This record gives sequence, structure tokens and C-alpha cells, in this order.
Amino acid sequence: MTTEPEFLTTARAFYDAVAVDYADRYRNVLAARPLDRAMLAAFAELAAGGRVVELGCGPGYVTGHLAGLGLDVSGLDLSPRMVELARADYPGLRFEVGSLLDLPYADGELAGAAAWYSIIHTPVEHLPRVFAELHRVLAPGGHLLLAFQVGDRPLRIDRPFGHPVALDFRRRRPDLVAGLAADAGLTVTTRLVREPVGEESTPQAFLLARRPLGA
Ligand SMILES: C[S@@+](CC[C@H](N)C(=O)[O-])C[C@H]1O[C@@H](n2cnc3c(N)ncnc32)[C@H](O)[C@@H]1O
Repeated sequence: MTTEPEFLTTARAFYDAVAVDYADRYRNVLAARPLDRAMLAAFAELAAGGRVVELGCGPGYVTGHLAGLGLDVSGLDLSPRMVELARADYPGLRFEVGSLLDLPYADGELAGAAAWYSIIHTPVEHLPRVFAELHRVLAPGGHLLLAFQVGDRPLRIDRPFGHPVALDFRRRRPDLVAGLAADAGLTVTTRLVREPVGEESTPQAFLLARRPLGA
């Protein structure tokens, strides 16, 4: 039996504990984020016509938004509690428990994959495996959308909403993330960095990448 890396156990425990409060805080956040919606709309247009997944979907509101844009989309998350909430909020959509490091999809199965603030809990030394998985499951010509906080140092969130858990939120430079995508064989097509709005404390990055046709 293989032992799960500790960072996955910690992230799952954190999100299981905060799931209800997190969903209440964020499920309507896209309404006040027009540039984020613009990136989701561009991704939806690019990936339309095939199977799409949101990886690290949390309570499912991004998956729901993508479904509203016409995509055949499902969600996957490490946290069983988050998946329960997503299923309750979006009973017409599929959600499953799983990990970015070991995706439950066949080679080349997906027209699109979105990882919306979900690579931020994976230590950098494990990201090549995540990007290798993303490359594997995308069809040639398939599209990847990433969102993450920009910065050099992790932000440790301790006792969120009063729960006795803590987790590092790993901010990253867009160059580093784009380089990891390129190393995995993906072509980065778009980088958007916007300034923080609302309660955000750092700029926010959005990357689109594509598995090359014929590769
Ligand atoms: C900051 S939340 C983002 C949730 C949602 N995408 C959103 O934007 O609100 C990060 C989510 O990623 C999930 N997550 C973290 N690491 C993961 C991994 N290795 N595989 C799958 N999901 C992961 C967490 O359980 C959590 O629900």
C-alpha cells in the first residue's frame, strides 16, 4: 500500500473542516470578478464540444458557471465534504472525489481542464507530476485554464472561520507556472495578471495553455 503524501492529507482535512463556511463566503464571488469571468468565458469557447472537468472544484460554483456557459463539465476535488456540497448545490452535474496527482481520466479524454485556485496547495516539487497528468488527460489540441495567487512566499491560514486547521496557500510567479506547463509539453497561449480586488491581498494570475495538436 502506498502512503499518501502529507500535504494531501493536510489539504483534505482543511477543506473538509471549512467547506460550509468556504461555500457561503465564495459561491457568489464571480459576480464581482469580471476579468475572471472573461477568462472562464474564453476557456469555455475554446474547450466547447468535448468533455471538460474542473479540478479542485471545491463547492462547485466554477463548475456550475462553466455548465451555464454550455460546457459538458464535471468537477473533482480532494475533499469529500466539498464534493457533497457541490452535489447539493448542482444536482444536475457530476462531482467526484480525486486528486490532481492521479487523475481518474483516460489518456486524451478531455477537451478542457480548469484548475481554479487548486494547484496552490501542491509543493513545487510535486507540480511536474500534476502537469504530466494534465498533459496526459487532455486531448491533442485540448485546453488548460489555471488560476492562482501571484507571489513568492506562501500565506499560512490558521484557524479559518475558527476551525482548528491550518494550511499554506502557495503563491507563485506566472513564469514559474508557465515553465512547468511548458516542461510538460503544453503550449502557454495566454497570461493575465490582474491587481487584487476586494479582500484579495496579492495580484491574481490566469494562464491558458494547450496540448499541441499531434502531441
Ligand atoms: C482554494 S479552493 C478552490 C476551490 C474552487 N475552485 C474555487 O475557486 O472556489 C482549493 C480546492 O482545491 C482542492 N484541492 C487541493 N489540492 C488538491 C489536489 N491535489 N487534488 C484535487 N483537489 C485539490 C481543495 O480540496 C479545495 O477544494
